[in-house]
Amino acid sequence: MQLISRIDALRQELWRHRLNGASIAFIPTMGNLHEGHLQLIDRAHEYADVVVSSIFVNPLQFGPGEDFNGYPRTFEADQSKLAERGCHVLFAPSVDEMYPDTQVSSTIVKVPHLSSIHCGASRPGHFTGVATVVTKLFGIVQPDYAVFGLKDFQQFLVIKQLTEDLCLPVEIIGAPIARAESGLALSSRNGYLSAEQLDTAAALYRCLADVRTQIDNGNSHYSELEEAAQIRLEEAGFKRDYFNICRQQDLQPATTEDTDLVILAAAYMGQARLIDNLHFHRL
Ligand code: PAJ
Repeated sequence: MQLISRIDALRQELWRHRLNGASIAFIPTMGNLHEGHLQLIDRAHEYADVVVSSIFVNPLQFGPGEDFNGYPRTFEADQSKLAERGCHVLFAPSVDEMYPDTQVSSTIVKVPHLSSIHCGASRPGHFTGVATVVTKLFGIVQPDYAVFGLKDFQQFLVIKQLTEDLCLPVEIIGAPIARAESGLALSSRNGYLSAEQLDTAAALYRCLADVRTQIDNGNSHYSELEEAAQIRLEEAGFKRDYFNICRQQDLQPATTEDTDLVILAAAYMGQARLIDNLHFHRL
């Protein structure tokens, strides 16, 4: 696997592959890689000849007081994991390389409606930071395919939307959520949890699964289901953020007419803010 930190050098390397007629799949990450990230690499291999990943902890998508400084950085281990999984090129730029001079990008990419609800309401500016860096990375890598985890369902929709609106020639592929045996979605932020908190955190997925069962059994009192789930999570030891039953296409509150649903949830366990979701076709 080649490790490249400069934009020019990456362009040159990828140009060589393109001249040979190779297709490129891209997986952007912020590092501290776990099995969920690595399954995106496997997925990318199914689509393209050359698999490119990036590790960049993007300051633009962290709010004041969030965990940018403390975000786990495990570069050496990440590099070995990617190489083992057959990633061909790892792009790991510095903040200066991505945001020269001012360390902020002067052009921003904003996907207004999708970015202000759910996680966007709790983390103002977060999705603009994500949309901006992903657009920039797409411009640098110019991939044919880009693979994103459905663990970040709202992020996935934001990226699909910007790709469509800006006519970017990249196909966005969604990959299923990788979970621990307990059901807990794998996340770099799980590293913030003690062994006991990790056990308790599995309640988030159980809660999503139970609400889904109730919906499938015909319960359409969505607000009541949401509130009951929040109370149950609080009783399990979480601090509440949101628990919303939505329709998949635009993440607006689901009505009884909607059948393609997603339950989006975020909650705090200690200092960690965990997110998870369940998307399904209502029976
Ligand atoms: P990061 O949190 O490192 O995640 C990188 C990719 O891995 C995202 O597409 C995310 O959805 C996926 N992922 C994380 N945990 C997963 C799991 N348990 N199962 C499946 N996929 C999982 O998301 C970001 O970084 C950043 O916002 C980024 C897109 C890189 C922009 O900075």
